[in-house]
Amino acid sequence: MERTLSIIKPDGVTRGLIGEVIRRLEKNDIRIVGMKMLWMTREQARGFYAVHRERPFFDSLTNFMSSGPVVVMVLEGENVIEKNRTLMGATDPTKAAEGTIRRDFATEIEKNVVHGSDAPETAAFEIGYFFNRFEIVA
Ligand code: CMP
Repeated sequence: MERTLSIIKPDGVTRGLIGEVIRRLEKNDIRIVGMKMLWMTREQARGFYAVHRERPFFDSLTNFMSSGPVVVMVLEGENVIEKNRTLMGATDPTKAAEGTIRRDFATEIEKNVVHGSDAPETAAFEIGYFFNRFEIVA
């Protein structure tokens, strides 16, 4: 059993896509074991995306991620990191496969509706960034 962090980004929340994203996760037998809505400060967004701090898109990305509420979720299931990433599609929506969340809804590489951890180590960091153990159901 594996866990991963999923974020419905401010564009997804603003555009009313919370239900659609959750429906796709649940339909694919991914279990939600933690969930909350929050509005990150710029500093919180910069901390979350610290691995990208040298990238040219860092300021823009962290401004966007703190521009409105997000929904953060802990997902659980077999191979859930990869499974969630397959459902999301490629970061760049123009390169995302048909039927994926980003292909269907994302408007650009930055405003790409969802985030998902890319490996077990990043999942552990990202889950711990938002959730304590009492906020994740067994
Ligand atoms: P995410 O999966 O949240 O991880 C990093 C985010 O940076 C990515 O989705 C995009 O929203 C954003 N981003 C903006 N520009 C780029 C880029 N050129 N390459 C990768 N990620 C980018």
